[in-house]
Amino acid sequence: MKLIKPYLLAITTVFFVNCASKKEAVTLKDSYKKDFYIGTALSADQIEQKNPKVDSLIRKEFNAITAENSMKSMFVHPEKNKYDFTLADKFVAYGEKNKMFIHGHTLIWHSQLAPWMEKIKDSTQMKAFMKDHITTIVSKYKGRIGSWDVVNEALNDDGTLRKSIFLNTLGEKYLVDAFKLAAAADPKADLYYNDYNNEEPAKREGTINLIKKIKAAGGKIDGVGIQAHWRLESPSLEEIEKSILAYSALGVKVAFTELDITVLPNPWDLKGADVNQKFEENPKMNPYAEKLPDSVQTKLAARYASIFKLFLKHKDKISRVTFWGVYDGQSWLNDWPIKGRTNYPLLFDAVLKPKKAYNSVIELKEIKE
Ligand code: XIL
Repeated sequence: MKLIKPYLLAITTVFFVNCASKKEAVTLKDSYKKDFYIGTALSADQIEQKNPKVDSLIRKEFNAITAENSMKSMFVHPEKNKYDFTLADKFVAYGEKNKMFIHGHTLIWHSQLAPWMEKIKDSTQMKAFMKDHITTIVSKYKGRIGSWDVVNEALNDDGTLRKSIFLNTLGEKYLVDAFKLAAAADPKADLYYNDYNNEEPAKREGTINLIKKIKAAGGKIDGVGIQAHWRLESPSLEEIEKSILAYSALGVKVAFTELDITVLPNPWDLKGADVNQKFEENPKMNPYAEKLPDSVQTKLAARYASIFKLFLKHKDKISRVTFWGVYDGQSWLNDWPIKGRTNYPLLFDAVLKPKKAYNSVIELKEIKE
């Protein structure tokens, strides 16, 4: 007996120490590594690793990255005959160094265009622009960028084609042209159509038609990006699930590309993420400037848990889930659609601490005994 007891004690200690260290080592990317990539958008400062604490959080928790702004037209192609890949190069190098999946955002989008692009008026110029822009960018990173948002936000909420300089100059053919140009520049990259509100019925139908048309015209399209700028109460899990099923039935992958959940008042019943929509500052619209009440924190955690539960149910159809930002303090939702609010849409708070919502997402993956 005397001999056995210390032996048992040693085993028990080793067991508990092991459990404790295992618990500490739990991260988003490790928890979900068999399911889908867990990504984040990186701001310019994050690409440049300006804050070491933020940087180590990014490397610890995420295994996929998207540039929040740095690869958009106005930044990479500021003048007709001038590209600026300074930040895009750093972004790609960062992903490679950290063995992350690298997603390119975005090639053809009506927002955040360079001023010179807004002046393109006729089909010849637009054709030349698309060819040069897509070919230059995609072939520059050929074999290094895993997937591209080839076209972003080409649809209205009712599922019809959005009026944009692309549609106005080239007609709907611009869509298949964009996918063909991207495929020619990097045949191995996965090519996505990305949008917001495309989990809602009308826009979902529009998206399905668009994918079918691109395929029928010989374009290569590999996936649909559902941006997922969502709210506590909507969209419903039913509509999200219908969308996952409907898109994957077309033979394309589904990615949730810009996930965040606003907790702030939305008196306009605004859905989606039209970056050009803006409202006046108003203190009533910023109720949690100091702190998020526990009740809302709990609601957010429950909402995230139910969403990730659904994602896990369909993990075979989902390639990636990317958050639009690393932590609450730097989320774009502090400035959209009203400037200067304090929002709480992500899994890490303003001082980088994991929130209740983080735990609820991790707990879904913990082995229950
Ligand atoms: C947002 C960025 O987060 C902001 O920093 C920028 O000012 C505007 O664009 N849909 C998209 C993203 O596809 O590129 C947008 O990102 C958010 C909505």
